Amino acid sequence: MPSPSTEAGLAARQAAEARFTANNPLSQQQHTVALGSLPGGNTRSILHTSPFPLTMKKGIDSYVWDVDGHRYLDLVGEFSAGLLGHSHPTIRRTIQNTLSPEQGEGPGISLGATTPHEQTYAATLCTRFHLDRVRLTNSGTEANLHALAGARHYMNTRHGSSGAGGPRWRKVVVFSGGYHGAVLAFGNGEPAANTVDRKDFVVVPRYNDLALAREVIERTAGVAAVLVEAVQGAGGGIPGTREFLMGVREAAREKGAVFILDEVMTSRLAPGGLGTELGLDPDMVTLGKYLGGGLAIGAFGGKEEIMRVFDPRVEGGLAHSGTFNNNTLVVTVGRVVLEEVYTPEVCREFNERAERFRERLVAVAKGSRLSFTGRGSLIGLHFTEGGLEEVRCGEDVRAQERGDLKDLFWFEFIEAGFWTTRRGFLCLILGTPEEELDRFVEAVRGILEKHKDLMML
Ligand SMILES: Cc1ncc(COP(=O)(O)O)c(C=O)c1O
Repeated sequence: MPSPSTEAGLAARQAAEARFTANNPLSQQQHTVALGSLPGGNTRSILHTSPFPLTMKKGIDSYVWDVDGHRYLDLVGEFSAGLLGHSHPTIRRTIQNTLSPEQGEGPGISLGATTPHEQTYAATLCTRFHLDRVRLTNSGTEANLHALAGARHYMNTRHGSSGAGGPRWRKVVVFSGGYHGAVLAFGNGEPAANTVDRKDFVVVPRYNDLALAREVIERTAGVAAVLVEAVQGAGGGIPGTREFLMGVREAAREKGAVFILDEVMTSRLAPGGLGTELGLDPDMVTLGKYLGGGLAIGAFGGKEEIMRVFDPRVEGGLAHSGTFNNNTLVVTVGRVVLEEVYTPEVCREFNERAERFRERLVAVAKGSRLSFTGRGSLIGLHFTEGGLEEVRCGEDVRAQERGDLKDLFWFEFIEAGFWTTRRGFLCLILGTPEEELDRFVEAVRGILEKHKDLMML
């Protein structure tokens, strides 16, 4: 699709990029060094930014510092995993306790055995997110991979596999713009090149389009699962309407398929996760990100009848292995995250505050080519020729996206001391001072004013 960038937009972007390069010589130097051992100097694709990424040196509370000495308000929030901020005192204390068995406090690490801590944590997760049973993984990607394996196994043992040509129930219906992990991405209406079992995914071409979703689910044979996010995170911070999500659940039920809600991003939005808040009653839920307090984590769980496929006492059950699934650091920290830090009350208050913040951003951007979407503490930024007031799916944006303005804004944010994602997505950090959020709103207003010829409709 041709980009509607304008000459003036590209010129402003180029000037901002030149200032960025001049302001960040040590980051540029670090990038050159990284090129010697990492392809493109990178080990996590999303963190590559042109002309070079900023290299961060440290983070404290809701701030990060780069190697050139600039301080930023952190609005990346580690793509949702950094919800608690940097080195939260409770998390730090828990890690220290876990590592100190000689003081009689914690278990130490890598015991190569089950411990009481994983059970306690599992119980916490089950209670909080209304799951009958749960299993732990090391990432959200793994959680989704195992949830899909579980759903397929359940369907094939329940309904019978056809035998010839492999299992009968293999197909998974997903949505354009959906992101379910490193090898489960469906950004542009099709599985990304690195998606596992590509041919098994059937992509509904538009999120929030219930008629289309129904049609795809109904006409596809051998559907084992329908996998959906209640807010598309990587897809642009686009909330699913309740009507759409309920309808998708119903369509999955009518088909007899397992309805899996990916709450890796959204479980932070309400005390029991967004699925509970919306009354979606999913068959399975996948989790991750902030639950580890900054450590690597993932989990999947749901109805006992389905999760039973992972019971090692049952013959013909499904294996779910992983050296670090029950690592003592993450299970002890994970429990504290939910029970001591991100309690239901804190979660509710935080997301209500974030709603008000987004409403202020929407008001500031009115009449411009910048739109804000999202729910609670997850916020998407979109730059479109027509300044879309409502964004229901990524296709709405892609049809008229202004990449020049998106980049321009990112460079301006960096210059003004705000660490944001290049793709235009904010994940708020708990405890970010209100004055800092005010400062961000004013910065948006200032950048719009500075580039009013480009930005205003
Ligand atoms: C909705 C969703 N599911 C799954 C994942 C994958 O999680 P991880 O990066 O921990 O593998 C992500 C990561 O951004 C996500 O946003």
